[in-house]
Amino acid sequence: MAIREIRTEGDEILYKKCKEVKNFDEKLCILLDDMYETMKKNEGVGLAAPQVGILKRAVVIDTGEGKIELINPEIVEESGEQTGSEGCLSVPGVYGEVTRPNKVTVKARDREGKLFKLTGEELLARAICHEVEHLDGKLFLDRVTKFLD
Ligand code: NI
Repeated sequence: MAIREIRTEGDEILYKKCKEVKNFDEKLCILLDDMYETMKKNEGVGLAAPQVGILKRAVVIDTGEGKIELINPEIVEESGEQTGSEGCLSVPGVYGEVTRPNKVTVKARDREGKLFKLTGEELLARAICHEVEHLDGKLFLDRVTKFLD
């Protein structure tokens, strides 16, 4: 496993749409392992592949309840609303209030290519929404209603 460099705001790769993962191979496993290690080292709760310069639809999340890997994720259900502080490893030191669904269900594949569904609430729902948007080249900054000190 290796720590990869995190791309930051202004890097054009963060604004591009990522491609679907088609090969569930060793290379994908290495990417996911590196992403997780990089996220942990930087004390984040989520990281998307474009943040380490890879335009693939892959995400890792750990809100403190263990590692979650989402490949080709698609949010299929959302409900409720939450407003709270949000940040991003690609925008270091910046936090803002963002409104998100309070509960989301995501359909995704695991590293072996197997389909599964996952429902998350509160912080996990927020992390899923935030990371999935990275895959479409969007940063949370566009959703901030109020920047926090
Ligand atoms: Ni982010």
